[in-house]
Amino acid sequence: MKVCRTISELRNELKILREQSKVISFVPTMGYLHEGHLSLVRFAKNNSNICVVSIFVNPTQFGANEDFNRYPRDEQRDLELLKNEKCDFVFIPSSDEMYGKDYQTFVNVKKYSQILEGEFRPGHFEGVTTVVLKLFNIVQPDFAVFGQKDAQQAFIIQKMVDDLNVPVRIEVLPIVREKDGLAMSSRNVYLNAEERKQALALYNSIQLAEKFLKEGERNSDRIIEEIKKLMLQYPLIKIDYVEIVDKNTFTKIKEIEKDKSYYLLLAVRIGATRLIDNTILKV
Ligand code: PAF
Repeated sequence: MKVCRTISELRNELKILREQSKVISFVPTMGYLHEGHLSLVRFAKNNSNICVVSIFVNPTQFGANEDFNRYPRDEQRDLELLKNEKCDFVFIPSSDEMYGKDYQTFVNVKKYSQILEGEFRPGHFEGVTTVVLKLFNIVQPDFAVFGQKDAQQAFIIQKMVDDLNVPVRIEVLPIVREKDGLAMSSRNVYLNAEERKQALALYNSIQLAEKFLKEGERNSDRIIEEIKKLMLQYPLIKIDYVEIVDKNTFTKIKEIEKDKSYYLLLAVRIGATRLIDNTILKV
């Protein structure tokens, strides 16, 4: 496994491999890796000749009052985990390497970057799409792998790739959960013992929605209302949003229809920590 810290170093390595027609996969991350990330790396590795993982805590996707400075980082541990997965290249650029002097260019997937997560985290998706497009241009992978945990992010990246004709295939893999159902996230380390217990409100909400669907409920407002009632039982939880959207358009819907797919999207704050979760609803 080779660690590259500059764009030119990684580009030179990959150029030779691309000329040999190697299939290159790419997993962008912000590090502090967990089983969710590793499931993406395993998929990438199993479906390509060369697997590239990036570790970069991207400053442009954090708001002024967000957790950029305290975002967990452990490069040595990440490198050990990636070595175990037989990852081929790890790209760890500095902020200066990615956003050199007088950086000016940003990518904005307008409509979809302002709703849901975008409403609560203004500017977040612009930072994500900008860094992801830069990384795609640096790595030029055949395909890139993202987690369904950040469903809106994956949707927006797919839209960017379609709109800007970026020659990369986007793969989205299922959420990996802890034994008790909490979706794996680097931010889970922020939770104290009581917050960790109450974080289960997210998975319990997903299970409640699935139960209602099984019992024949098709009205999305009623399912959302029941979830909000359930969340009231967890005093540390403050809801940012609970929404059901069409999986292919990310627009809110009224009725759940047969043979269509939807996302139930959840975003809450628990103390100082913000967590998101989702599931695919289908009848
Ligand atoms: O999902 C993440 O970890 C980040 O948003 C990403 C895609 C690596 C961009 O910084």
